[in-house]
Amino acid sequence: MTGVTDHKLRGDYSRMRPDHTVDQDWDAYSEAEHALWRRLYARQAALAPRYACEEFNATLATLDCGGGIPRFDLVNARLGLATDWQLVAVPGLLPDLTFFEHLAHRRFPVTVWLRDPEEFDYIVEPDVFHDFYGHVPLLFQPMFADYLQAYGQGGIKAHALGAIEMLARLYWYTVEFGLIETPGGLRAYGAGILSSGGELPHCVESAQPHRIGFDLMRIMQTQYKIDTYQETYFVIRDFSELFAATAPDFTPFYAELRDREPHSPSSVLASDRVLHRGTAPSRAA
Ligand SMILES: [Fe+2]
Repeated sequence: MTGVTDHKLRGDYSRMRPDHTVDQDWDAYSEAEHALWRRLYARQAALAPRYACEEFNATLATLDCGGGIPRFDLVNARLGLATDWQLVAVPGLLPDLTFFEHLAHRRFPVTVWLRDPEEFDYIVEPDVFHDFYGHVPLLFQPMFADYLQAYGQGGIKAHALGAIEMLARLYWYTVEFGLIETPGGLRAYGAGILSSGGELPHCVESAQPHRIGFDLMRIMQTQYKIDTYQETYFVIRDFSELFAATAPDFTPFYAELRDREPHSPSSVLASDRVLHRGTAPSRAA
């Protein structure tokens, strides 16, 4: 996730290097923190076979990280061999451009701190459980890994063009809250849902949200909510569809979108490929 917000961030940014990375300092995690990780992991891993995409499940099984907060250096040895990505430890949310620079160089920033026990069900800022459990398994999937790098490269360009708000919607509706069609039905690949005990079953089974086929321009024109379950999920056919969408230069797309009103998160358009029209009240755009 990206975006420095206007509230005080909770990580310790005092010892970070110029690229905003820190040491993970794995020995400093307490037994209580490892125990909380195990509880979070157990809940999500029990849901994953039914609701997560098979690429996520296949890698999760090999990561062997259910016993406690993982050591990033050990995972990096395997991740480097698989897709040439590396995890970098960070204090929390990063400035947009710093975040994009890391992705563009195949480095994924992972927050070092774990949530408090009372945040078991919901956390405002991403923590190590969200960042690692939600994001890292798919970094082993070559096409998705390439998509994320292309996103970072596009982010650097969008930053220069003042178009981050539009590009951030793409990240939100794919990397964080994306669904994928599979022969067995819809499955989650977005980290925001994969790491959420409530939204993971909801995104697949609930009749409330709309489920609409992936459409790059549509997504970049659609606002999102950060404090409720999503009212609309966008569904890809496969990861190559995602990667192909990032191939063009987005500069003319931004110019076109700038003149248009954004769609509300609950809109359904006549041009949408609607897989499921939600039961929640929706507004025509
Ligand atoms: Fe995230």
